[in-house]
Amino acid sequence: MLDNRPELPPEIARRRTFAIISHPDAGKTTLTEKFLLFGGAIQMAGQVRAKGEARRTRSDFMAMEKDRGISVSASAMSFDFSNQNNTFRFNLVDTPGHSDFSEDTYRTLTAVDAAIMVIDGAKGVESQTQKLFEVCRLRDLPILTFCNKMDRESRDVFEIIDEIQENLAIDVTPASWPIGIGRDFIGCYDILRDRLELMDRADRNKVAESIEINGLDDPKLAEHVPEAQLTQLREELEMARELLPPLDAEAMLQGTLTPIWFGSAINSFGVKELMDGIANYGPEPQVQSAEPRQISPEESKVSGFVFKVQANMDPKHRDRVAFLRMASGHFKRGMKLTHVRSKKPMAISNPVMFLASDRELAEEAWAGDIIGIPNHGQLRIGDTLTEGEALRVTGIPSFAPELLQGVRAGDPLKAKHLEKALMQFAEEGAAKVFKPSIGSGFIVGVVGALQFEVLASRIELEYGLPVRFEQSQFTSARWVSGDKQAVDKFTESNKQHISHDHDGDIVYLTRLQWDIDRVARDYPDVTLSATKEMM
Ligand code: G4P
Repeated sequence: MLDNRPELPPEIARRRTFAIISHPDAGKTTLTEKFLLFGGAIQMAGQVRAKGEARRTRSDFMAMEKDRGISVSASAMSFDFSNQNNTFRFNLVDTPGHSDFSEDTYRTLTAVDAAIMVIDGAKGVESQTQKLFEVCRLRDLPILTFCNKMDRESRDVFEIIDEIQENLAIDVTPASWPIGIGRDFIGCYDILRDRLELMDRADRNKVAESIEINGLDDPKLAEHVPEAQLTQLREELEMARELLPPLDAEAMLQGTLTPIWFGSAINSFGVKELMDGIANYGPEPQVQSAEPRQISPEESKVSGFVFKVQANMDPKHRDRVAFLRMASGHFKRGMKLTHVRSKKPMAISNPVMFLASDRELAEEAWAGDIIGIPNHGQLRIGDTLTEGEALRVTGIPSFAPELLQGVRAGDPLKAKHLEKALMQFAEEGAAKVFKPSIGSGFIVGVVGALQFEVLASRIELEYGLPVRFEQSQFTSARWVSGDKQAVDKFTESNKQHISHDHDGDIVYLTRLQWDIDRVARDYPDVTLSATKEMM
């Protein structure tokens, strides 16, 4: 342990729960595939993509999604990784890569203890990386960086490191150092373990040859590295030592320093070293903020929270799977947990774990793990499950949508069906649905424009209901809270602006910032808020 917390039970201490963030095309899929390959979860590289396709036809069911190649639904995969210290259990939570799904991504990141940031060595920090990084920063998540595609022409290493430090305002420490660039790239010097790792360009799935080196003056180096490259390596490493901070585990845990590994995911190069880094430095399951008290992973009682709900993973059944991040304890299949929001007991008899091979029944799970709980809609994002204590995990926000549209069923007789479909998506967190207090119909709010198309095609496919989205007179939504009398008076006098969300909470709709400012002035006891804690 690196901080002052008590030592965790070994089963929990060996867990690493993390997500990969990157700009599209930087190599997230390839890296995931290699993780699974080295984790022994798949036999051959190339399966993830194939599996991804198969999974998509099962869960994502949208031709559109396939057309555009966007992964809408996040999933979690578990696999083991052994090094000289231990056998670790990695839980990799997939983040949707498209910028349109930022809210979903944010919530996914509430379920992990660290993030791997993948950047393309030729492109550096790209827009989506920057956005996702900022989301990680909001949660002070520790970040490990993988600079990919070093087998191709890439930027100067100092330039890449500078760019990360400048653009992301985080200190960078090299965990490895590339030798040669592009066609001349032969491998890396592993700074953390004083080894030379040489890349095999012939066999993409082969783990690099690793040569133990006794410091930079070891004559063995010259046997493997051409003289010119060796001189350059020595110079660069000396410069790096002078200019860049050393690896400080505490600073990494606090999210102020990121170690960077260089490699080539497609050539399986540098991946094992990165996995070693996650195993040795990536944090153990962390304390979870909750009310009225925080939850520590080592507590013997089981608790967890829902960070994602996915509907229709199996189109034959109208079931939903709630993804639960275990916050504490040792869960066993069949356990009865309390659903804190409704105060009702729930027997968790068919939990699933997403082992890389396929989903499997989870017989047990520990703090840090992600399990899927099939249910009929009782479980919502932000819900906490415990062994009885009324705890509520906090910090899972719902953001005010940035785009609003009205929605109508193509067939007016099917308005009820439309309402059901919309409620389902609202519960999944795929959209906000508001029912105005005057008039009929619904207003749907999303964060990214593409989500309207996703919703329309899902409603048609899953409910057989063609729908039309149309311009709404409103552009902003704010949750209303405050003293009950003041809120009643406010809603009574502003009926044409008032609606309710799917939880029944009051929402003020408007198209003018001026209106929002006016409310602040005229109703000092009423608060309008752009976020709401999911509960
Ligand atoms: P993503 O999930 O982040 O979007 O990226 P993905 O892994 O799909 O990789 C994007 C492209 O980059 C793929 O090429 C992939 O093969 C390539 N790539 C990944 N890692 C490396 C690497 O280390 N070196 C090089 N040179 N290329 C790499 P593609 O042509 O788009 O797809 P494919 O036909 O290879 O599957």
